[in-house]
Amino acid sequence: MSSPCVSSIVGTGSYMPEKVLTNEDLSALVETSDEWIRTRTGICERRIASPEQATSDLAAEACRRALDNAAMPAAEVELIICATVTPDMFFPSTACVVQGKIGASKAVCFDLSAACSGFVYAMQVARQFLNSGVYRSALVIGAEKLTSLVNWKDRNTCVLFGDGAGAVVLKADDSADAPGRVLSAVMGSDGTLVNLLKVPGGGSACPTTAENVEQRLNTVHMEGRETFKHAVTRMSAAAEEALSRAGLKREDISLVIPHQANLRIIDAIADRLGLPSEKVFVNLDRYGNTSAATIPVALDEARRQGRIKRGDIVLLVAFGGGFTWAASVLRW
Ligand code: UT7
Repeated sequence: MSSPCVSSIVGTGSYMPEKVLTNEDLSALVETSDEWIRTRTGICERRIASPEQATSDLAAEACRRALDNAAMPAAEVELIICATVTPDMFFPSTACVVQGKIGASKAVCFDLSAACSGFVYAMQVARQFLNSGVYRSALVIGAEKLTSLVNWKDRNTCVLFGDGAGAVVLKADDSADAPGRVLSAVMGSDGTLVNLLKVPGGGSACPTTAENVEQRLNTVHMEGRETFKHAVTRMSAAAEEALSRAGLKREDISLVIPHQANLRIIDAIADRLGLPSEKVFVNLDRYGNTSAATIPVALDEARRQGRIKRGDIVLLVAFGGGFTWAASVLRW
């Protein structure tokens, strides 16, 4: 075991299902309108996985693309962490299913549950293994088939979510100025607020019955307004703390990649951090909220669009059920 190392992102990849569900389509399902959804959330459309596609299928494709970008064979990956709240099954882990699909035969695999903060949490967990020299390489995934948890009769929630997957290849690196280096990370949780955002049924607290499926207890329930307030406060604070731990200031930020839940939340955070809109990456207009997948998908798109250049400081910041929150600063 060699140490200490730094962790660097050496490849990114994402996969979004082809089928598009527009605000107009949703207006045919529930009493809503394109105007309401756009102005209250910023979402115009979202992607929907096909019935044959499970979360692992989306994740496996994102991983293949990330490995391709890193020019690394799957057989070299030593660790796979999949952040998801929509696993293929309770067990085995979706990370194990992905391992089988991509042929990463050497990897140790497990899932991580931290809702929409899951990807940033998983990066931090993987980083501990890499920085301490236990493993040399990791695939960190954020993947969701969130529409499998949506109540299509609830206009408060069904307009918000979509499916998708993103992944990064993290590598242990001995060089202090490796590109894609993770400079800092912070995480937090508040378990007194579990009831504000949850899927109440289907777990051990409320095992699936015909009756509770009828009551839609197996779908997302959210107190939107309360969640909104906590999201703004926690993400702003986490962003400041991650910057401070990296020894950086707000002015040093080249690009913020926030969790994509609501454009009004993103604008409020940018406002608090004093950042102009060109320094904030937004793609929720096209994808909606894909929970753990929003940040790795956005990171991959930002890289492919040339929005991130060598030397740039990139801030990732997330918030989700639990509540959980997390932020991480990268130097590209
Ligand atoms: O990813 C994890 C973190 N998640 C979040 O951060 C989400 C946070 N919350 C939000 O983004 C927002 O709270 C929502 C987008 C969910 C809701 O927006 P809001 O501005 O907080 O609306 P609201 O829940 O206060 O509802 C306002 C009105 C209500 O009608 P009344 O009671 O004023 O007559 C709702 O019934 O809007 C109504 N409404 C809708 N109307 C048309 C709620 N959903 C819809 C809809 N279409 N889809």
